[in-house]
Amino acid sequence: MIVAPSILSANFAQLQSVIQMLEKSEADWIHCDVMDGHFVPNITFGMPIIAAIRPLTTKIIDVHLMIEKPERYIGAFAKAGADCISVHLEACTHLDRTLHQIKALGCKAGVAINPSTPVSALQHVLYCTDYVCLLSVNPGFGGQPFIEEALKKIAQLRNLIQEGAYNTLIEVDGGITPENVHAVVEAGADIVVAGSAVFRAQNPEEVIRQLKSPKYARP
Ligand code: DX5
Ligand code: ZN
Repeated sequence: MIVAPSILSANFAQLQSVIQMLEKSEADWIHCDVMDGHFVPNITFGMPIIAAIRPLTTKIIDVHLMIEKPERYIGAFAKAGADCISVHLEACTHLDRTLHQIKALGCKAGVAINPSTPVSALQHVLYCTDYVCLLSVNPGFGGQPFIEEALKKIAQLRNLIQEGAYNTLIEVDGGITPENVHAVVEAGADIVVAGSAVFRAQNPEEVIRQLKSPKYARP
């Protein structure tokens, strides 16, 4: 089980101490939500923030690109220090090519899909996909409720991966809390992203611990 806190809901004025907290926590990856105001109706941050946190952490930096034509920027994000880069299937015309380009830059290549995109659309790219970022909210904002339909999609994707004997990991992103993480992992998730559940909590490290041990967190 990989836990990937999303810094989207963190206090950006205290980014250094946020990263220091994550560094000593049980978090495995640091999930960075990049939004362009076109693909999603919100704007967040870009390469300078990735470059700023890179020297502060040994954790895997996971960059989720919610931007149009992401192929234009993958080189810049790799250079800034991303370990994993996911691009949206809906935003990327030549997805197969882009995934190979991410790998050629030395990063893990991820495909993100919106709640309305069927997992069958991934069938012919799973062979070159290190992880699928399956959105369980409509991307753009932290703090939205988990869309239950995503549980079916996780299970379907797990079957597709098993049938093809691929090594692809399943990352689930959006609305995950210590209360529902058990169902997400039971359905087949390998990586869980959590933003508001971690950063709006009194004790973020404790929430990360709960997410890491879903049985402990089972309601
Ligand atoms: C959705 C983002 C998610 C989200 C996670 O646009 O990709 O990473 O911010 O935040 P919570 O856990 O608050 O849904
Ligand atoms: Zn995300």
